[in-house]
Amino acid sequence: HVFQNAKNASTYVAGQIADLIRQRSDAGENCVLGLATGSTPVSVYDELVRLHEEEGLSFQNVVTFNLDEYFPMDSDALQSYVRFMQEHLFDRVDIKPENVHIPDGTIDEAEVANYCRDYEQAITSAGGIDIQILGIGRTGHIGFNEPGSGRESRTRLITLDIVTRRDAASDFFGEEYVPSRAITMGVGTILEAKQIYLLAFGEGKAPVVAAAIEGEISKSIAASFLQDHANAKIILDDAAAEQL
Ligand code: GLP
Repeated sequence: HVFQNAKNASTYVAGQIADLIRQRSDAGENCVLGLATGSTPVSVYDELVRLHEEEGLSFQNVVTFNLDEYFPMDSDALQSYVRFMQEHLFDRVDIKPENVHIPDGTIDEAEVANYCRDYEQAITSAGGIDIQILGIGRTGHIGFNEPGSGRESRTRLITLDIVTRRDAASDFFGEEYVPSRAITMGVGTILEAKQIYLLAFGEGKAPVVAAAIEGEISKSIAASFLQDHANAKIILDDAAAEQL
């Protein structure tokens, strides 16, 4: 779906999310969202906050699982995805804190494998992800599934690609301060979501968007695995669609 600009695209995606939240609420059921960080989904979160403030959209029945977090990372650090989600969404709506799940960058390295297994289990216990929001990195990553991440990969500790670390350099005031690792849901975890929206805006994303959508399905571009998903929508602005 190609929109004229990122704002129209984000309003559409937020509307789809809000519809499902309300539908589930009317049925007395939870709505499970998979959420992403980065600059791309910010306007979706802004629109959800607007719907909460102006149109009474409640998040009481919403359960969330975030894709990823740097490792190690303190939750109150400037670059933490916990802090990002609080600032952009969770502190601005009526979500129950116990319904929020974000990979924990503070755990002991020896505990990471067990932690990742529990994270997967929590998604399953919640009934699976209804709607997964994704951005895309210049390496083709979804979450932090860098080149080499297979279709069956699950939540785990990964090593960040040099391109990803370079792109994050300004957030960390220098490439050398960007953590070299992260915890991320796997490609397999993501593909189990019932509905997926991958968002990409701006001409900088045009080459990787074209490779992911029209290129071969391969481990070298994790987003290419979405081609096989029954219900994945790619949401672009004109600039990101330029090379299609
Ligand atoms: C980070 C995140 C990804 C995100 C990507 C793109 O690497 N872990 O989930 O999609 O950045 O970021 P942006 O949306 O700022 O371009």
